[in-house]
Amino acid sequence: MKSAQLTAIGPAENVVKCVDVPDPGAPGEGEVLVDIAACSINPADILLIEGKYATVPETPCALGIEGAGTVNAVGNGVSALKVGDKVMSLARTNWVQQVRDKAEAFIRLPTDIDLAQAAMLKVNVATAHLMLTTYVSLSAGDWLLQNAANSGVGVDLIRLAHANGVRTVNIVRRRALIEPLKQLGADVVVVDGPDLAKRIAQETGGAVIKLGIDAVGGSATGRLTDCVGDGGTVVNYGLLSGKTCEINAFNFVFRDITLTGFWLARLLRSMSFEQIQGIYDQLARRLTDGTIHVDVEASYPLEQVSDAMAHAKRESRNGKVQLRPNS
Ligand SMILES: NC(=O)c1ccc[n+]([C@@H]2O[C@H](COP(=O)([O-])OP(=O)(O)OC[C@H]3O[C@@H](n4cnc5c(N)ncnc54)[C@H](OP(=O)(O)O)[C@@H]3O)[C@@H](O)[C@H]2O)c1
Repeated sequence: MKSAQLTAIGPAENVVKCVDVPDPGAPGEGEVLVDIAACSINPADILLIEGKYATVPETPCALGIEGAGTVNAVGNGVSALKVGDKVMSLARTNWVQQVRDKAEAFIRLPTDIDLAQAAMLKVNVATAHLMLTTYVSLSAGDWLLQNAANSGVGVDLIRLAHANGVRTVNIVRRRALIEPLKQLGADVVVVDGPDLAKRIAQETGGAVIKLGIDAVGGSATGRLTDCVGDGGTVVNYGLLSGKTCEINAFNFVFRDITLTGFWLARLLRSMSFEQIQGIYDQLARRLTDGTIHVDVEASYPLEQVSDAMAHAKRESRNGKVQLRPNS
């Protein structure tokens, strides 16, 4: 079968190759064999491939933090899953045609779920949900602020917050995104730049913003923090600028702002399988009821993984880039 593998640390478009690997074989006791239908290419995959993530892998190695597909076969002793079930994989080696693993490495999904959307559930939807619910208790009418608001996580945040009546201020880099994000439920959309706090105060009528969510780092973290109300919380979960967070200490000392960091992998490791299944059950229903949807800009077969990597690294995309291992 085909697998997209990391051959060396380096530019993703050069070092990820489609190779033939042995078929995984029939599932053993307690195991399941899954045909992978769709895999999202996330910034975390690119960071890992290029040696900029929390750990640097030994090469060659399998890749792919996300993958969703259909159960092909089940081994003895598996009762939670059956052939034909749609599942999301908890493994981090999903850019492959088939995955064989223990049954607890898969989350069962509703039968009517779109597997392309399900391939964004594990990382981005869960990240948006957990950042919305973990740090600050937000009630209907409360305000939060985020940057990179047109990203996959950003769109999930807008949609989930809107569904709960929480109001969002959204920072983007392009004017062309203002109307499309408002159509999704964004209350305020502003283009990053000077006078951000003043412009946001004008658009919100001076609302107190309780939570700031930063994916960018560098000076963008400081601009976002300056807009959060006294006593508020800023959560950093990404460094899209490639720069460390720059914040004026005035915010901590005189305004009692708290800065913290979110990493989904760390949070999931602290949870039982039942807790994880419970979260994804709830979020999968938000996919099937239409609350959550993120556009897919392009899909590639594994044989074109280099093109897929180059595409995923482009700025100003209008959605995710995915792999379709069995297309
Ligand atoms: N900590 C965690 O557990 C966790 C979990 C999930 C995601 N993340 C992080 O969340 C971030 C977004 O991920 P995603 O999958 O949602 O992204 P995505 O859908 O692939 O979208 C990429 C986004 O990054 C923006 N961007 C790229 N370079 C930028 C820069 N230099 N300054 C500002 N914005 C920039 C793009 O804006 P344009 O359209 O203007 O180019 C776009 O909004 C990434 O940093 C990712 O690593 C973290």
